[in-house]
This record gives sequence, C-alpha cells and structure tokens, in this order.
Amino acid sequence: MLDASRRWRGDGKSIGLVPTMGALHAGHLSLVDLARRENDLVVASVFVNPIQFAPGEDFERYPRDPIRDAELLEQSGVDAIYRPSVEAMYPPEARTRVHVSGVSEPLEGVARPGHFEGVATVVSKLLIAVAPDRAYFGQKDAQQVAVVKRLVRDLDLGVEIRVGPTVREADGVALSSRNVYLSAEERSAAASLCAALRMAADAYAAGERDPDRLRSVLRSRLEAEPLAVVDYAEVVDPGTFRGPGTLAVLAVRIGRTRLIDNHDLSLEFPG
Ligand code: PAF
Repeated sequence: MLDASRRWRGDGKSIGLVPTMGALHAGHLSLVDLARRENDLVVASVFVNPIQFAPGEDFERYPRDPIRDAELLEQSGVDAIYRPSVEAMYPPEARTRVHVSGVSEPLEGVARPGHFEGVATVVSKLLIAVAPDRAYFGQKDAQQVAVVKRLVRDLDLGVEIRVGPTVREADGVALSSRNVYLSAEERSAAASLCAALRMAADAYAAGERDPDRLRSVLRSRLEAEPLAVVDYAEVVDPGTFRGPGTLAVLAVRIGRTRLIDNHDLSLEFPG
C-alpha cells in the first residue's frame, strides 16, 4: 500500500481513488469532485497503461501532458497523485494478468482483444496500491465499469465502485481524451453519436421496445453521417453487455479515431 494511504487509513480517514490515464478533461475532474464530496481524502492515479492497448492501437500517440495534469489535479483539490512508472507496474519478470470472463467478452472485448485484461490487471494493482474505500469511474466507459464491478465482487476487494455521469460538450459530444485527435470536420461528425442516442431514447419514450427497431434507429442516424463508420450499435443489459436490455452502446470510427458512447434508454437523454 502507498505510504500516504497507510498513514491516512491509520488515522481513520476514508480514501477515494480516481484512476486516470492523464490527458485530463472536465469528465475526470467531475469524478474528482464526486470523490471529494464522498471521502476525507482523494488520490488520483495517472498512468497510461500499455497493456490495455491492443497492437496497432494508439498507445504511442495517446495524449500526454503531465504538467497540465498535475496542475489540474492540484487545483481540483486532490490530496495525492499516484504516478507509477511502466517498469514499476510491470517489471520484466511479472507474469500475472487478471482476466474477467463473461462481461469482458462482447462488443469492446471483440473489438479490442486483451483490452479488458489490461484494464482489470491495472485496476487490481491500483486498488491494491492505494487501498481506497471508493474508486471512481466514468459512465462513458460503461463496459469497463461492468468489468471492474465484476472484478471487485469476484476478488472480494472490498472497495465501492462509484460511477460518475458522462460529461458532454454543449452539442452533446461526450468528453474523451481521444477527442483531440479529431479534425474540425470530424469533431462535427462526432455529434452523430449523441444524436443517435437521443433519437433512440425518444423512440423508447414513445413506447418502442423492439430491440431490432431501436438498433435500427441508432444505425440509421449514424449512417446518415458520411464520416462515421459504425463498429457496433446495440441495446444491451448493463450487467452482461448482451441483449436484451435498455443500455444503448455505440462504437464508431470517425477518420482514424474510434469513439464510444452509451445511454440508458429508459432515462431521458440529458440536455
Ligand atoms: O478509463 C481509463 O482511463 C482507464 O481505462 C483506467 C481505468 C484508468 C485504467 O487504465
């Protein structure tokens, strides 16, 4: 356990952990705010986790700005930043990986082989290192949330997983560190994801329950955007990530950038 966490725990303080890969935006900072409201002390981790990027993904070009990240975290009132090196996290002799079966397999699991094993491994290590009472994740990565919840239950990690709402730009685009890859034209095209979710939520509110028809509402809106290439557009159960369910989940390529978004259709679309 980190020395600071050990000391704080000894003093009877509650600890919230906000795991991040840096390149911070208002979505991360909203998780820090939530963690500050619910805990005596907040630790944010900043670690671009190489093993959750599949070969050919954007590990090398993933945005990194450690100075800005540290400034934002300090301004937002975190008590400690945990920034391990790759060598400390994964020494060459390390042979252990954490695999969560079931919920990690469909959708992102198909599109990004090894991704959730990388996430489950690093999240396990972060939870062991910091030993928080609560850990905070964004709803935008809904399948990651489901994988982490399963992991924590299965390994009796004794940490509460808290989920913060997706933070959106004025036009509905979900904040993501990868949005910096988008050209101006691609950034406009990215609004098609939230437009599709909104249309499906409207259809659901009007009484539509047929999963095929809800899926085709999503797809037809996305396919109307010439720059969007749909990877998947499904309506699934938020616990298993298989149908039927009410969680609309999208993965869409716009240029070289792959964006994901989701919305529970039984809830009004925000904004
Ligand atoms: O959501 C992220 O930023 C990452 O997947 C996480 C949870 C920090 C693990 O590297």
